[in-house]
Amino acid sequence: MTKTIKKEELVLAAINVSKQAHAPYSNYRVGAAIVSKNGKVFTGCNVENAAYPSGICAERVAIFKAVSEGEKDFSLLAVVTKNGGMPCGACRQVMSEFSNNLPIIVSNDKGEITQETTLDLLLPHSFGANDVS
Ligand code: THU
Repeated sequence: MTKTIKKEELVLAAINVSKQAHAPYSNYRVGAAIVSKNGKVFTGCNVENAAYPSGICAERVAIFKAVSEGEKDFSLLAVVTKNGGMPCGACRQVMSEFSNNLPIIVSNDKGEITQETTLDLLLPHSFGANDVS
């Protein structure tokens, strides 16, 4: 049977992985944890680079890790920053590749949830696979 991940567990996983952030340029640590419909959790942190555009956001690291492990169907994403910052536009676009109504929890690093929303609210009228077929 697939284990159900509680949202508090997912937020905790995001808090923990945010500690791995490589963010010497912004000093803004981000952690993301996404659970697949099979109940597997994938985590990611932001990884910055001296050549700034070569860095990547925490959410995309988590999603790309999941996809590279064969998981593309997701049921919940948690994002943690010190101040409850929202996912950026590029990450929203990547999320939309795999889900149009992904539930998203945003939390600060104390585990206080600041937003519970869905991707369709964060990225309405999105560009997607149907547009390029
Ligand atoms: N960042 C994320 O990891 N996720 C977002 O959705 C927004 C921004 C990172 C990128 C960069 O390393 C730092 O936060 C400051 O922009």
